[in-house]
Amino acid sequence: MKISSLGRIGFSVAAQLALLPVLFSIPGQAQNPRHKPADPDWKHAAWMNKSLSADERADLVAKELTLDEKIDLLHGEGMPGWGKQRPNYYLGNGGAGFVLGFPDLGIPFIQMSDAAYGVRNSGDNGRYSTALPSNVGAAASWDPESACDYGALIGRELRAQGYNMTLGGGVNITREPRNGRTFEYQGEDPILAGTLVGNRIKCEQAQHVIGDIKHYAVNDQESGRNEVNSIIDRRSLQETDLLAFDIGIHVGDPQAVMCSYNAVNGDYACENKYLLTDVLRKQWHFKGFVLSDWGGTHSTIKASAAGLDNEEPEDNFYGEDFKKAVLSGKISQAELDEHVHRILRAEFAAGLVDNPIEKSVPDVLGGLDTAQRIEENSIVLLKNSGNLLPLPKSGLKSIAIIGDHADMGMISGGGSAQVDPPGRPGTKWQEHIWFPTSPLKNVIAKAPTTKVQFASSTDVAAAAALAKESDVAIVFVQQWTSEGMDLPNLSLPDNQDALIAAVAAANPKTIVVLETGTVVTMPWIDQVGAVAEAWYSGSRGAEAVANVLFGDVNPSGKLPMTFPKSEADLPHLTINQPPPGAEGASPVMKKEEAHASFSTTYSEGLKVGYKWYDAEKKPVLFPFGFGLSYTTYSYSDLQVNASGTSATTVTFKVTNTGKMDGTEIAEVYVAMPASAQEPPKRLVGFTRVKLAAGESKQVSIAVEPKFLSIWDVNANGWKLVPGSYTFLVGGSSQDLPLTKAVSMN
Ligand code: BGC
Repeated sequence: MKISSLGRIGFSVAAQLALLPVLFSIPGQAQNPRHKPADPDWKHAAWMNKSLSADERADLVAKELTLDEKIDLLHGEGMPGWGKQRPNYYLGNGGAGFVLGFPDLGIPFIQMSDAAYGVRNSGDNGRYSTALPSNVGAAASWDPESACDYGALIGRELRAQGYNMTLGGGVNITREPRNGRTFEYQGEDPILAGTLVGNRIKCEQAQHVIGDIKHYAVNDQESGRNEVNSIIDRRSLQETDLLAFDIGIHVGDPQAVMCSYNAVNGDYACENKYLLTDVLRKQWHFKGFVLSDWGGTHSTIKASAAGLDNEEPEDNFYGEDFKKAVLSGKISQAELDEHVHRILRAEFAAGLVDNPIEKSVPDVLGGLDTAQRIEENSIVLLKNSGNLLPLPKSGLKSIAIIGDHADMGMISGGGSAQVDPPGRPGTKWQEHIWFPTSPLKNVIAKAPTTKVQFASSTDVAAAAALAKESDVAIVFVQQWTSEGMDLPNLSLPDNQDALIAAVAAANPKTIVVLETGTVVTMPWIDQVGAVAEAWYSGSRGAEAVANVLFGDVNPSGKLPMTFPKSEADLPHLTINQPPPGAEGASPVMKKEEAHASFSTTYSEGLKVGYKWYDAEKKPVLFPFGFGLSYTTYSYSDLQVNASGTSATTVTFKVTNTGKMDGTEIAEVYVAMPASAQEPPKRLVGFTRVKLAAGESKQVSIAVEPKFLSIWDVNANGWKLVPGSYTFLVGGSSQDLPLTKAVSMN
């Protein structure tokens, strides 16, 4: 390449100045070979030809790279606050990590940010991000279009803030609802979860950010996550946890997969040949690259051979050690080139090279509208005795608003998913954050002639007294959860069960609004009038909740996971914990010493979520797929056009039999032939049906053969078991009025 001037492509003046020590090799500063001055000719380089495929373009670039340059693609350059500052730290964008690029070749740095429900770290970086409803909350909309809007918004805000790769896209299915990251995932069903995460990724990546799906795989508890060996039989693995990733990758085509911290069946996920090569590369034909979760790499040769392409956030194993392994022949040139190809290819395929980042002002108001609309589709009405809801906007004399922070905000989920709220500095790790969306103010705005008074949760007697003198009491309760912790139980914390019980005893017209990251038990359920699950509701949560409470929005959300009656009904009574002295990431960062110190055996296997409760005949508090509306729906005219080789078509009619317009989520399940040895039924399709009062629509759902198949361990593939398949259709996993049996061979 020609050395021309100091002008560098894609760098600010400040960054150029910052590069001077590197360019002129000032003693004490590491010299980095890729920091070459710009070659004005790169725009005409062969790999800039858009008519070539991403594979061809990547190969053309790879030919230009030295060994050191290739190695530099294989690891991150550090994360603010993670270990010692690395020499190149100033080239980062303030996100969780970055990989150096080759500006002289027109290949940008990969700037990554966490972005589970919005872009992380805006506080510390002096930026603004929209908080969308939590991922599991948005999953309650069962709406691929909302998932697309969700991803597109995050993609736009990432780009606006100078990032070109997301670390969002969590899809670990909810085997363990006490998992502190349940809010970052999409619920307990692989077909629902995979479809939604795929649509999110598709639209996020369309904004020219590398899409990511994580945490691959079976990272289903946070307790001892760096040291737990998740043990699961292969059929269950394929039909549950992996199926969600399979669908997500198929629909969204993410250019990156993040392997998880834990081990799976003995090998750490980031050096697990079965996961990374046999399944990801060979079975699913994944073309992008695999990056490790932060500190989740444990070896060089083993990880590389297994299919790990990129170590994050540093180069403990994929820097000097990798280079030595290549030079000594322990890692072949071809293996190195495969990693390099996948990373470069991802940059072309996601459009990073052709669409360099231009920072911009995020569309704050547009983002708020999107967040509100998604939340309105996600709120699940769980109980509504005597049509207590919707509330009249006039006619009530008084309303009591009760709950911790219910005057000023709504809670959000913590950890690397945390979005910083406006108007304050960045969030500290595991700080409890209420977004400034005020339930009190929004109820006042809806009912301007009603006396609306507030009582916090701290004085239960005072709250009950206020409820007693009010026509209606609305109690906002929270369950805060975060990465890095699991819940000890599913009870509302901080005496909130007692608060609700006392308020409901004082006034049976009590409405409970749940702000939770996962399921909760409800010992007070028979005493209250109404319950709405609002999840972690995002930047405009209170506006959305008020619209539902007062009937401006007819609720349509349905549960993406089962609410059990008690923890005693879960597949595991407790979550296994690491042995004393073994917790924490530090032991596993040591070279060649990594080993899982304890295990969790997922002996429930295929019976995840509703499949467990169905099979074990355990009554539940609220079933998977359940959610009420202010109108009613009926189902009729089921037809099934069965096919074992192409899609089976399920057709039926849904009618809005009530007096209000609404949207019904229609669900299709299948009971497999007995010889398949499956749980009683599985979800195979769903759709949202918008219906005016009195209106009927015929809907048709195509069910893929894979969704009707089982994983055949001996043949290592999907197999349709011949026999009788009963299709069940309705509005919840436990309300399926239409059934039709068809035989398939
Ligand atoms: C989390 C990942 C996250 C990464 C970077 C890890 O602790 O498990 O989900 O993307 O940190 O912040």
